[in-house]
Parts: sequence; structure tokens; C-alpha cells
Amino acid sequence: MKKTGLSVEEMNEAQMQSALGPEFVWGVATSAYQIEGAASEDGRGESIWDVFSRQSGKVLNGDSGQTACNHYHLWKEDLDLIKGLGVDAYRFSFAWPRVQPQGRGALNPKGLDFYERLIDGMLERGLQPHGTLYHWDLPQHLQEEGGWGLRTTAEHFANYAEVIGRKFGDRLTSLATHNEPWCTAVLGNLTGKFAPGYRDPQLAAQVSHHLLLSHGLAVKAMRAAGVRTQFGIVLNQSSVSAATDSAHDRAKAQTEYCSFVRWFMDPIFRGVYPQDPGIAHYPDIRAGDMEVIHTPIDFLGINYYTRIWASASQPEVPPPKVLGESDMGWEIYPDGLFELLKDVNRDYKLPPVFITENGMACVDVLRDGKVEDQARIEYLRMHLQSVANARQAGVDIRGYFYWSLMDNFEWESGYAKRFGLVHVDYSTQKRTLKRSAHWYREMIGRHKGEVSMGHKNA
Ligand code: FCB
Repeated sequence: MKKTGLSVEEMNEAQMQSALGPEFVWGVATSAYQIEGAASEDGRGESIWDVFSRQSGKVLNGDSGQTACNHYHLWKEDLDLIKGLGVDAYRFSFAWPRVQPQGRGALNPKGLDFYERLIDGMLERGLQPHGTLYHWDLPQHLQEEGGWGLRTTAEHFANYAEVIGRKFGDRLTSLATHNEPWCTAVLGNLTGKFAPGYRDPQLAAQVSHHLLLSHGLAVKAMRAAGVRTQFGIVLNQSSVSAATDSAHDRAKAQTEYCSFVRWFMDPIFRGVYPQDPGIAHYPDIRAGDMEVIHTPIDFLGINYYTRIWASASQPEVPPPKVLGESDMGWEIYPDGLFELLKDVNRDYKLPPVFITENGMACVDVLRDGKVEDQARIEYLRMHLQSVANARQAGVDIRGYFYWSLMDNFEWESGYAKRFGLVHVDYSTQKRTLKRSAHWYREMIGRHKGEVSMGHKNA
């Protein structure tokens, strides 16, 4: 058998397919700011990423989402492309400033119409729509009032959620409140790498609390309004490895796991923040907040890209990168997905889980109309093995969404990093299926073949 470097049980594809089970949902994922473009059209308000991208030195090459993949206009072709991949589901996000330009008050009918067309377009093509309410594009107007540092932003978010829920809830297969609140809190307010670009640890802690609070408020508001879909949240998570067995490295690993994974999981599934001597900043919490955050949810979305490597020494011990790294410099470590899933399944009473993002940035070259991205195929294959192994170990994983459908605006890296199954030429907006897209389609086709054969035999 081919050596994959995986320490989880190696399976052939048929074994993997059967471990995933006949109902397994295959999908691809994107987010609004990264693909839509049309940033100044049809009444869309500004988001914090429009403003951040304009500040010099914040985004590589001065790129922005102004045009992106022009999906706002090319949505039909893009839905056809998705359908052509043979997937069951599409994960997309609503741009809050397109729906409600100021983040509160007046709605933008043209923005709502866009999502109406998009969702109906999915349904017409037999694709399940999986929406996300917030993938980092806060209306700039709310930022100017104080953004996620303010409690009122959580209340505005719940109102916006109710608008979307009432209008589209019955057509959505699922609706996640937030995508990766860790990124908003930490990258946006502690390291300043992401919009709005602050470096304030206490603010970051408070923002994380308001994001969690807004999640709970939104789910409660939508349920109270009678919205019927599956409610959840999408968290970025990693397994954590201590660089050595030293007490310092182990303590650091524990702190990392606490601030990355448990910081969001404990409030949502246990109603408390985790305590760790390495965590210095805790938010101001009001009576009743933790109950709101602890509101039951119908699914958990997990995004996994790499592991966290914890080294307390100076200089740090680097990760081994046995399987190499992606173009982001992220270690390829598929075992981490298996380890993580087993750990969270042991530590929490989980609802059904979806892998809502997983993918690899590669240095893709379009030559003679082809992109030979074998490394991405290997990445995908190894991570799917981890998912299959986790299912066999009893984790209730219902589906997998590759990040991303197509190359897009990769935040502070601009257009320099390519995650897509589909290559985008930004000067012509031409989409080209990479080798990985063909592989994904064929693998899904075999899964469905196996599934229907399984049914016949049953
Ligand atoms: C995740 C984000 C997504 C994309 C991938 C590479 O953290 O949710 O928008 O940038 O990383």
C-alpha cells in the first residue's frame, strides 16, 4: 500500500466511501466578500474589509474585494459550475452590508433580491443551500460606532439574523451564525492582521464574548420567530502538539488548545469559559449571557487546515512538516483532523458535525488550459481518510465542504494564494477546472455509485 504518512488507519477508497456512509453530504464553500465583488453596486454598504483593504500595507499588493470573482454578476455560471462538480451542497455567506447597508435599520431590497436569486438558483439545480450570516464583513457603519467591542452590535446582529431567517430560512438546509469567530476576535483585534486591524488584547476578549453572545441571541431570535432550518456555528479548530515532552511545551500546548478550541466550545456546549493560567484576558460578562450562548444548536461546523505546534523555547522548535506545507506555509497534517474530532467528540456532547472548510493553497500554474494540482488531490484524499476514520471512531460527521470552490480574495494575502478547485483568471474572470476538481467530481460520483449499488443490494 502506498505510504501516505498518515498514522490513522489507511483505507482504500471503497473502504473510505463506505465509512463515510450513504447519506454523506459533499460540498464546496465560499464567502461573500471573497467572491462577490460589486462592492459599490445596487446599494451595498461598505464593510470593514473595504475600508481595511484601502489602508496601505494591510493587504498584499493593495488588493481588495472590489471586483473579486465578480460572482455577484456571474452567479448563474458559478452555480452551474458547482452543479457540474456533482456535489450535493453549497456553503456561501450573506454579506450583511449588502442586506442592511448600515448594519441596522433600512434593508436593501436589491441585496435581498440577489440572495433570493442565488438560493432559488441552488434549489433549481438540486443543490442544498448552507448559509452563513457572518463571514467577517461587518458593516463599516457599525464599526464606526464601536463594532464588536459594543454589546449593541450583538443585538443588531440578532435583528439582521431574524431578517435573513424569516426571508430565507425555509429554503436553507442550514444556517450558521458565524464563521470562525476566533479570527474576528484575534486576527481582527489582537494581532491586527485582519479588519478592523486593532491590537488590544482586552478588546479581543470582549469581541469574542460579543460574537458568542450574538450567536446565541441570533439563534434564539430566529427560533422565536418560527424560522425552521438547522442552526449552527462554524469554528476553526486544530489539534495541538507540544514540540517536546517538556513541562513548558506541554503547558503551552494546553493554553493554545484552551484559547483556540475550548474558548468557543466551552461557552457553547457547557455555558462557561475555560480557565487556564496562560490566558490573561477575560471579557466582561453580564448575568444571563452564558445561558444565551449555551443555547442548543443543531449542528457544529468545523474548519480544519493544519495543527498548532506549541513550543515554549526560544528559538522555537519548528514543526517537522513530514508531509510538507501548503503555499500558506501551513503544515500538512491530516492526522490532526482525526485527533481533533476524536477529542472534541470525547469532551463535548456534540450535535451532528460538518467539516465546513478544509483545503490547500498551492502554487497553481495554468498551462494549456490545465492546472495539474496533484498536491491538492493528495491533501484532500488524506483529510477525507481522517474524516472517514473519525466516523469509524464514532464521531457523527455528516458532510464535507472543500475550501474553496474557486480561487478568491484570500484576505491579507489578496489574490496571491489559490485555494480553489477551480482556477480563476482575474483579468478575464475565466474559470478553469483544475485536476483536483475533476478528481473531486469523480470521487463523489463513485461514492454515489457505491451508494446506489449499496441500496440495490440492501
Ligand atoms: C478560513 C476562512 C476562509 C479562507 C480559508 C483559507 O480561515 O474561513 O475565508 O480564508 O481560511
